[in-house]
Amino acid sequence: MRISLNKAASLLNSGHVVAVPTETVYGLAASLKFPLAIDSIFSLKGRPANNPLIIHLSDQDQLLEFVSDFPPKFYEIIHTFWPGPLTIVLPIAEDKIPSRIRAGLSTAAFRFPQHKLANALMQMTGPLVMPSANLSGKPSATKPEHVEEDFGSHFPILDGGSCVCGLESTIIIYSDNIWKIIRQGALPPEAFTHCLGYTPPIEKPSIGQKPLCPGQLYRHYAPKAALKLTKVFSDDMRGVVLGFEDKSYPPNLEVIYLGHSQDPNQIAEALYRTFREVDEKKIPEVWVDIRFPDDGLWRTILERIQKASNH
Ligand code: TXA
Ligand code: MG
Repeated sequence: MRISLNKAASLLNSGHVVAVPTETVYGLAASLKFPLAIDSIFSLKGRPANNPLIIHLSDQDQLLEFVSDFPPKFYEIIHTFWPGPLTIVLPIAEDKIPSRIRAGLSTAAFRFPQHKLANALMQMTGPLVMPSANLSGKPSATKPEHVEEDFGSHFPILDGGSCVCGLESTIIIYSDNIWKIIRQGALPPEAFTHCLGYTPPIEKPSIGQKPLCPGQLYRHYAPKAALKLTKVFSDDMRGVVLGFEDKSYPPNLEVIYLGHSQDPNQIAEALYRTFREVDEKKIPEVWVDIRFPDDGLWRTILERIQKASNH
Protein backbone atom coordinates (compact mmCIF):
# COMPACT_ATOMS: atom_id res chain seq x y z
CA MET A 1 0.00 0.00 0.00
CA ARG A 2 1.55 3.30 -1.08
CA ILE A 3 1.45 5.92 1.68
CA SER A 4 2.30 9.61 1.98
CA LEU A 5 5.36 11.04 3.72
CA ASN A 6 3.22 12.28 6.63
CA LYS A 7 1.53 8.92 7.03
CA ALA A 8 4.91 7.16 6.97
CA ALA A 9 6.18 9.48 9.71
CA SER A 10 3.11 8.98 11.86
CA LEU A 11 3.28 5.18 11.49
CA LEU A 12 6.96 5.12 12.43
CA ASN A 13 6.37 7.51 15.33
CA SER A 14 3.70 5.18 16.70
CA GLY A 15 5.83 2.03 16.57
CA HIS A 16 5.04 0.58 13.13
CA VAL A 17 7.31 -0.67 10.36
CA VAL A 18 7.32 1.06 6.95
CA ALA A 19 9.25 0.38 3.72
CA VAL A 20 11.33 3.40 2.74
CA PRO A 21 13.27 4.17 -0.46
CA THR A 22 16.97 4.98 -0.41
CA GLU A 23 19.40 5.53 -3.28
CA THR A 24 20.74 1.95 -2.86
CA VAL A 25 17.75 -0.32 -2.15
CA TYR A 26 14.46 -0.08 -0.22
CA GLY A 27 14.76 -0.38 3.56
CA LEU A 28 12.40 -1.80 6.16
CA ALA A 29 12.35 1.04 8.67
CA ALA A 30 11.63 1.25 12.39
CA SER A 31 12.28 4.03 14.87
CA LEU A 32 15.03 3.46 17.42
CA LYS A 33 12.51 4.41 20.08
CA PHE A 34 10.31 1.31 19.55
CA PRO A 35 11.92 -2.01 20.56
CA LEU A 36 8.85 -4.00 19.49
CA ALA A 37 8.96 -2.50 16.00
CA ILE A 38 12.65 -3.45 15.83
CA ASP A 39 11.77 -7.00 16.92
CA SER A 40 9.14 -7.22 14.25
CA ILE A 41 11.69 -6.28 11.57
CA PHE A 42 13.64 -9.42 12.46
CA SER A 43 10.52 -11.59 12.38
CA LEU A 44 9.08 -10.05 9.19
CA LYS A 45 12.34 -10.64 7.30
CA GLY A 46 13.11 -13.99 8.93
CA ARG A 47 16.42 -12.44 9.91
CA PRO A 48 18.76 -14.19 12.36
CA ALA A 49 19.16 -12.26 15.64
CA ASN A 50 22.95 -12.24 15.27
CA ASN A 51 22.78 -10.08 12.13
CA PRO A 52 22.81 -6.42 13.25
CA LEU A 53 20.96 -3.49 11.64
CA ILE A 54 22.27 -0.26 10.11
CA ILE A 55 21.23 2.98 11.83
CA HIS A 56 20.30 5.62 9.25
CA LEU A 57 20.73 9.34 9.94
CA SER A 58 19.63 12.49 8.20
CA ASP A 59 22.33 14.64 9.74
CA GLN A 60 25.89 13.64 10.61
CA ASP A 61 25.66 15.44 13.96
CA GLN A 62 23.15 12.79 15.08
CA LEU A 63 26.18 10.49 15.37
CA LEU A 64 27.42 12.42 18.38
CA GLU A 65 24.58 10.95 20.41
CA PHE A 66 26.00 7.42 19.95
CA VAL A 67 29.72 7.72 19.21
CA SER A 68 32.49 9.59 21.00
CA ASP A 69 35.63 8.08 19.50
CA PHE A 70 36.24 8.60 15.78
CA PRO A 71 39.01 6.74 13.90
CA PRO A 72 41.64 8.56 11.79
CA LYS A 73 40.37 10.05 8.51
CA PHE A 74 36.77 9.67 9.68
CA TYR A 75 35.86 13.29 8.96
CA GLU A 76 37.55 13.22 5.54
CA ILE A 77 35.53 10.09 4.73
CA ILE A 78 32.15 11.50 5.70
CA HIS A 79 32.96 14.83 4.08
CA THR A 80 33.60 12.95 0.81
CA PHE A 81 30.89 10.26 0.89
CA TRP A 82 27.98 11.38 3.07
CA PRO A 83 25.20 11.65 2.21
CA GLY A 84 25.66 8.56 0.04
CA PRO A 85 25.90 4.78 -0.28
CA LEU A 86 28.49 4.30 2.48
CA THR A 87 27.95 2.59 5.85
CA ILE A 88 30.56 3.02 8.56
CA VAL A 89 30.94 0.67 11.53
CA LEU A 90 32.08 2.52 14.66
CA PRO A 91 32.67 1.72 18.34
CA ILE A 92 29.71 2.99 20.36
CA ALA A 93 28.64 3.71 23.90
CA GLU A 94 26.76 0.46 24.59
CA ASP A 95 24.12 2.09 26.79
CA LYS A 96 23.10 4.37 23.91
CA ILE A 97 22.00 1.71 21.41
CA PRO A 98 19.79 -1.30 22.24
CA SER A 99 21.75 -4.55 22.03
CA ARG A 100 19.15 -6.03 19.62
CA ILE A 101 20.07 -3.49 16.93
CA ARG A 102 23.81 -4.23 17.10
CA ALA A 103 23.36 -7.97 17.80
CA GLY A 104 25.28 -7.59 21.05
CA LEU A 105 28.39 -6.14 19.38
CA SER A 106 30.24 -3.15 20.85
CA THR A 107 30.02 -1.43 17.46
CA ALA A 108 27.14 -0.17 15.34
CA ALA A 109 26.79 0.59 11.63
CA PHE A 110 25.75 4.10 10.48
CA ARG A 111 24.67 5.48 7.14
CA PHE A 112 23.50 8.92 5.96
CA PRO A 113 21.62 8.14 2.73
CA GLN A 114 21.30 10.45 -0.24
CA HIS A 115 17.59 10.28 -0.85
CA LYS A 116 15.23 13.24 -0.52
CA LEU A 117 12.26 11.21 0.75
CA ALA A 118 14.27 9.14 3.23
CA ASN A 119 15.92 12.25 4.61
CA ALA A 120 12.68 14.25 4.78
CA LEU A 121 11.14 11.33 6.66
CA MET A 122 14.00 11.11 9.16
CA GLN A 123 13.64 14.85 9.83
CA MET A 124 10.22 13.88 11.21
CA THR A 125 11.19 10.65 12.98
CA GLY A 126 14.84 10.87 13.98
CA PRO A 127 17.27 8.04 13.15
CA LEU A 128 15.80 4.83 11.71
CA VAL A 129 17.11 1.28 11.57
CA MET A 130 16.69 -0.08 8.05
CA PRO A 131 17.73 -3.46 6.75
CA SER A 132 17.02 -4.07 3.09
CA ALA A 133 13.28 -4.58 2.50
CA ASN A 134 13.38 -8.19 1.35
CA LEU A 135 12.82 -11.58 2.93
CA SER A 136 16.18 -12.83 4.25
CA GLY A 137 18.14 -14.50 1.45
CA LYS A 138 16.13 -12.97 -1.41
CA PRO A 139 17.44 -10.20 -3.68
CA SER A 140 17.03 -6.75 -2.11
CA ALA A 141 14.02 -4.71 -3.24
CA THR A 142 14.82 -1.93 -5.70
CA LYS A 143 11.19 -1.02 -6.54
CA PRO A 144 7.97 -0.79 -4.48
CA GLU A 145 6.63 -3.81 -6.39
CA HIS A 146 9.47 -5.94 -4.97
CA VAL A 147 8.50 -4.96 -1.42
CA GLU A 148 4.90 -5.97 -2.20
CA GLU A 149 6.09 -9.31 -3.60
CA ASP A 150 7.85 -10.12 -0.32
CA PHE A 151 5.53 -8.54 2.26
CA GLY A 152 2.14 -8.33 0.56
CA SER A 153 0.13 -5.60 -1.14
CA HIS A 154 -1.09 -4.12 2.17
CA PHE A 155 2.38 -3.45 3.50
CA PRO A 156 2.91 0.34 3.96
CA ILE A 157 5.42 1.68 1.43
CA LEU A 158 6.73 5.18 0.91
CA ASP A 159 6.99 5.15 -2.89
CA GLY A 160 10.22 6.59 -4.25
CA GLY A 161 10.14 4.73 -7.58
CA SER A 162 13.21 2.74 -8.59
CA CYS A 163 16.44 2.99 -6.59
CA VAL A 164 19.24 4.57 -8.62
CA CYS A 165 22.18 2.45 -7.36
CA GLY A 166 20.37 -0.90 -7.17
CA LEU A 167 23.05 -2.45 -4.92
CA GLU A 168 23.48 -2.02 -1.17
CA SER A 169 25.86 0.45 0.44
CA THR A 170 29.55 -0.37 0.86
CA ILE A 171 30.41 -1.07 4.52
CA ILE A 172 33.77 -0.07 6.02
CA ILE A 173 35.41 -0.47 9.42
CA TYR A 174 38.67 0.79 10.93
CA SER A 175 40.52 -2.24 12.28
CA ASP A 176 44.24 -3.06 12.77
CA ASN A 177 45.12 0.59 11.94
CA ILE A 178 43.54 0.50 8.50
CA TRP A 179 40.14 1.06 6.88
CA LYS A 180 38.74 -2.16 5.40
CA ILE A 181 35.75 -2.95 3.25
CA ILE A 182 33.68 -5.58 5.01
CA ARG A 183 30.81 -5.58 2.50
CA GLN A 184 31.39 -4.67 -1.13
CA GLY A 185 28.71 -2.31 -2.37
CA ALA A 186 27.76 0.66 -4.51
CA LEU A 187 31.10 2.42 -3.81
CA PRO A 188 34.08 0.47 -5.23
CA PRO A 189 37.38 0.29 -3.27
CA GLU A 190 39.06 2.65 -5.77
CA ALA A 191 36.62 5.42 -4.79
CA PHE A 192 38.44 5.72 -1.43
CA THR A 193 42.01 5.89 -2.74
CA HIS A 194 42.20 9.67 -3.03
CA CYS A 195 40.57 10.32 0.34
CA LEU A 196 42.54 7.71 2.33
CA GLY A 197 45.85 7.71 0.43
CA TYR A 198 45.42 3.95 -0.08
CA THR A 199 42.80 1.58 -1.49
CA PRO A 200 41.02 -0.20 1.36
CA PRO A 201 41.35 -3.99 1.17
CA ILE A 202 38.24 -6.13 0.88
CA GLU A 203 38.05 -8.27 4.02
CA LYS A 204 36.67 -11.70 3.15
CA PRO A 205 35.34 -13.83 6.01
CA SER A 206 37.71 -16.77 6.49
CA ILE A 207 36.69 -20.16 7.83
CA GLY A 208 36.85 -20.47 11.60
CA GLN A 209 37.18 -16.70 12.11
CA LYS A 210 34.47 -14.42 13.43
CA PRO A 211 33.52 -12.22 10.44
CA LEU A 212 33.75 -8.44 10.79
CA CYS A 213 30.41 -8.22 9.00
CA PRO A 214 27.97 -10.84 10.37
CA GLY A 215 25.66 -10.55 7.34
CA GLN A 216 28.40 -11.99 5.12
CA LEU A 217 27.77 -15.36 6.80
CA TYR A 218 24.38 -15.73 5.22
CA ARG A 219 23.22 -16.69 1.77
CA HIS A 220 22.11 -13.55 0.03
CA TYR A 221 20.73 -11.91 -3.03
CA ALA A 222 19.61 -15.19 -4.58
CA PRO A 223 16.79 -15.82 -7.04
CA LYS A 224 15.18 -19.28 -7.03
CA ALA A 225 16.70 -19.99 -10.44
CA ALA A 226 20.08 -21.69 -10.63
CA LEU A 227 22.63 -19.28 -12.10
CA LYS A 228 25.39 -20.69 -14.31
CA LEU A 229 28.22 -18.19 -14.73
CA THR A 230 30.13 -18.32 -18.00
CA LYS A 231 32.71 -16.46 -20.08
CA VAL A 232 32.54 -19.00 -22.89
CA PHE A 233 29.66 -19.39 -25.34
CA SER A 234 29.15 -22.08 -27.95
CA ASP A 235 26.48 -22.72 -30.55
CA ASP A 236 25.15 -25.83 -28.77
CA MET A 237 24.05 -23.77 -25.74
CA ARG A 238 20.30 -23.67 -25.06
CA GLY A 239 18.04 -21.85 -22.63
CA VAL A 240 18.20 -18.32 -21.26
CA VAL A 241 21.16 -16.00 -20.65
CA LEU A 242 21.42 -12.75 -18.71
CA GLY A 243 23.53 -10.73 -21.12
CA PHE A 244 24.60 -7.41 -22.57
CA GLU A 245 23.09 -5.38 -25.40
CA ASP A 246 26.44 -4.87 -27.08
CA LYS A 247 27.51 -8.54 -27.10
CA SER A 248 26.39 -11.38 -29.34
CA TYR A 249 25.08 -14.77 -28.27
CA PRO A 250 24.56 -18.22 -29.81
CA PRO A 251 21.35 -18.48 -31.85
CA ASN A 252 19.48 -20.84 -29.49
CA LEU A 253 19.93 -18.75 -26.37
CA GLU A 254 17.15 -16.37 -25.37
CA VAL A 255 18.76 -13.20 -23.99
CA ILE A 256 17.41 -11.18 -21.07
CA TYR A 257 19.37 -7.94 -21.25
CA LEU A 258 20.90 -6.40 -18.13
CA GLY A 259 22.11 -3.36 -20.09
CA HIS A 260 25.30 -2.25 -21.81
CA SER A 261 28.62 -3.86 -20.88
CA GLN A 262 30.34 -0.46 -20.85
CA ASP A 263 28.03 0.84 -18.13
CA PRO A 264 28.40 -0.90 -14.75
CA ASN A 265 26.00 1.56 -13.10
CA GLN A 266 23.25 0.46 -15.45
CA ILE A 267 24.00 -3.22 -14.74
CA ALA A 268 24.02 -2.63 -10.96
CA GLU A 269 20.68 -0.87 -11.18
CA ALA A 270 19.16 -3.74 -13.19
CA LEU A 271 20.67 -6.76 -11.41
CA TYR A 272 18.23 -7.54 -8.57
CA ARG A 273 15.24 -6.50 -10.68
CA THR A 274 16.35 -8.98 -13.34
CA PHE A 275 16.86 -11.77 -10.77
CA ARG A 276 13.29 -11.21 -9.63
CA GLU A 277 12.03 -11.19 -13.25
CA VAL A 278 13.68 -14.57 -13.84
CA ASP A 279 11.76 -16.00 -10.88
CA GLU A 280 8.52 -14.36 -12.01
CA LYS A 281 8.90 -16.10 -15.37
CA LYS A 282 9.57 -19.35 -13.45
CA ILE A 283 12.78 -19.98 -15.37
CA PRO A 284 14.55 -22.80 -13.49
CA GLU A 285 18.09 -22.00 -14.61
CA VAL A 286 19.90 -19.25 -16.49
CA TRP A 287 23.35 -18.61 -17.86
CA VAL A 288 24.96 -15.36 -16.71
CA ASP A 289 27.47 -13.68 -19.01
CA ILE A 290 30.42 -12.59 -16.84
CA ARG A 291 32.59 -11.22 -19.66
CA PHE A 292 33.31 -7.94 -17.89
CA PRO A 293 36.33 -6.32 -16.16
CA ASP A 294 37.51 -7.23 -12.67
CA ASP A 295 37.63 -3.72 -11.24
CA GLY A 296 35.49 -0.90 -9.82
CA LEU A 297 31.76 -1.55 -9.49
CA TRP A 298 32.13 -4.69 -11.64
CA ARG A 299 33.72 -6.45 -8.66
CA THR A 300 30.63 -5.83 -6.54
CA ILE A 301 28.43 -6.99 -9.42
CA LEU A 302 30.45 -10.21 -9.79
CA GLU A 303 30.38 -10.81 -6.02
CA ARG A 304 26.58 -10.49 -5.97
CA ILE A 305 26.22 -12.81 -8.98
CA GLN A 306 28.53 -15.36 -7.37
CA LYS A 307 26.62 -15.24 -4.09
CA ALA A 308 23.35 -15.54 -5.95
CA SER A 309 24.62 -18.67 -7.69
CA ASN A 310 25.45 -20.48 -4.43
CA HIS A 311 22.38 -22.45 -3.56
O1 TXA B 1 22.27 0.04 1.25
C1 TXA B 1 22.07 -0.42 2.37
O2 TXA B 1 22.98 -0.54 3.22
C2 TXA B 1 20.65 -0.86 2.71
C3 TXA B 1 19.77 0.39 2.73
C4 TXA B 1 18.35 0.10 3.15
O3 TXA B 1 20.34 1.39 3.53
N1 TXA B 1 20.61 -1.57 3.95
C5 TXA B 1 21.11 -2.80 4.10
O4 TXA B 1 20.88 -3.37 5.34
O5 TXA B 1 21.70 -3.40 3.20
P1 TXA B 1 21.02 -4.93 5.61
O6 TXA B 1 20.48 -5.12 6.98
O7 TXA B 1 20.40 -5.69 4.54
O8 TXA B 1 22.57 -5.16 5.66
C6 TXA B 1 23.30 -4.62 6.74
C7 TXA B 1 24.64 -5.28 6.86
C8 TXA B 1 24.55 -6.71 7.36
O9 TXA B 1 25.42 -7.51 6.59
C9 TXA B 1 25.06 -6.59 8.79
O10 TXA B 1 25.70 -7.77 9.22
C10 TXA B 1 26.03 -5.41 8.70
O11 TXA B 1 25.37 -4.54 7.83
N2 TXA B 1 26.21 -4.75 9.99
C11 TXA B 1 25.31 -4.05 10.71
N3 TXA B 1 25.84 -3.65 11.88
C12 TXA B 1 27.13 -4.06 11.90
C13 TXA B 1 28.21 -3.98 12.84
N4 TXA B 1 28.07 -3.37 14.00
N5 TXA B 1 29.40 -4.56 12.51
C14 TXA B 1 29.54 -5.17 11.32
N6 TXA B 1 28.55 -5.31 10.38
C15 TXA B 1 27.37 -4.77 10.68
MG1 MG C 1 20.05 -7.15 3.20
